[in-house]
Amino acid sequence: MKGKHIVITGASAGIGEALVRELSNAGAKITLVARRADRLHALAAQLPGETNVLPKDLSDGDTSWLAEAEAALGPIDVLINNAGLQTIGRTQDMDLDKAEQLLRVNLHTPLRLIHAVLPQMTEHGGTIVNISSLAALAPPAGMLWYNASKAGLAAASESLQGELLHSKVHVLTVYPGVIGDTDMGHYGLDSYDDSWSVRIQPRATAAQLAAEIHRSMKNKRARLVYPKANNITRWLPAPTRWLMDRLTPPVR
Ligand SMILES: NC(=O)c1ccc[n+]([C@@H]2O[C@H](COP(=O)([O-])OP(=O)(O)OC[C@H]3O[C@@H](n4cnc5c(N)ncnc54)[C@H](OP(=O)(O)O)[C@@H]3O)[C@@H](O)[C@H]2O)c1
Repeated sequence: MKGKHIVITGASAGIGEALVRELSNAGAKITLVARRADRLHALAAQLPGETNVLPKDLSDGDTSWLAEAEAALGPIDVLINNAGLQTIGRTQDMDLDKAEQLLRVNLHTPLRLIHAVLPQMTEHGGTIVNISSLAALAPPAGMLWYNASKAGLAAASESLQGELLHSKVHVLTVYPGVIGDTDMGHYGLDSYDDSWSVRIQPRATAAQLAAEIHRSMKNKRARLVYPKANNITRWLPAPTRWLMDRLTPPVR
């Protein structure tokens, strides 16, 4: 990672913040992107390496800011599509404006960012990391738009990995399960009735996930399911669905 320029979206909190700390400590130069400028600047001030703060709302599909990132820290070696929104509730009650904003942040903008960085990366090499979700493999009830966005991102990411298998570009798809110490993690856990089936789910922290993502980047892995016990959902999709239909508690 030493000297590499890494762009991390959703860098102001949670998993993105943990990735910023992990990769900056490994010697990378980091462009931090999210809406909350104050949090980005406060985080950047704590980092050992070079940084560039770009406060952006990623719901408009604009990618022109990548040029600003390159002007500040040089060609982009790694793009991490991490920014994300989640809405949980009854499908018929969803606010469509919010739902479509979610699709743009979670799916549309990441695909546009991939499109924008690929010409340079296919020539000089690079890494694209897409933070999907376990919800792409095992979609829980009550997350219609989120599940669609994450399954879409995972499918796109897996197909890109195949397309670029023999190229200079490494593509990593990440399927986090319950990362309980982030805002989204709390929201997810608090949105369902308390139940033993939720309580026994494997959990990890954002820092643990960031360390595993770093390891998977170094080892050029195609995908990371974390906590690792969740790999069972990849190998046994039908029993997973059967269990989820019976054990998922009602949305509050
Ligand atoms: N936590 C979990 O259990 C879990 C599980 C599976 C997958 N994931 C995925 O992991 C990623 C990070 O989740 P997290 O748990 O770290 O969530 P989080 O703590 O809520 O952080 C979300 C990040 O996304 C940024 N973001 C949201 N909307 C944005 C927008 N319109 N423009 C720019 N940035 C925006 C937020 O920054 P600003 O608010 O400052 O813009 C924040 O930095 C997401 O893609 C999520 O779907 C999380």
